[in-house]
Amino acid sequence: MAFINWNDSLKVNVDSIDSQHQKLIDIVNTLFDAMSDGKGNEVLNDVFNDLLNYTVEHFSHEEKLMGQYNYPKAEFHKVEHSDLTRQAKDLYEKFKSGQATISVPTLNFLRSWLNNHILSSDRQFGDYLNSVGVK
Ligand SMILES: [Fe+2]
Ligand SMILES: [Fe+2]
Repeated sequence: MAFINWNDSLKVNVDSIDSQHQKLIDIVNTLFDAMSDGKGNEVLNDVFNDLLNYTVEHFSHEEKLMGQYNYPKAEFHKVEHSDLTRQAKDLYEKFKSGQATISVPTLNFLRSWLNNHILSSDRQFGDYLNSVGVK
């Protein structure tokens, strides 16, 4: 069983965002599998780096849509994105310098953050986009 299971309750009903969320979840699952299989730091580093890059790409996609469609709650949503980006980058730096390992608590943190953000802020944003005709 995957560490995070994609299911319809995570959908925000905007195709580009839903498919990016699925990809993000795939990368977290890959990181979890690599950690569980006892893969070396080089592999963990590569997957963690993919996760960071893809997260940044995904957030900028959402933020571009916010600008394009004048989303009224953009500022609050962007703060959540920048908080997570900062935390994930800190974690990555600690991991690279040997001060931290990829652990179950780390992955639990990523999973709850993703679930909570998708189910609240991204869902609200999805509803807004649907209301202005974006699917
Ligand atoms: Fe998102
Ligand atoms: Fe978001």
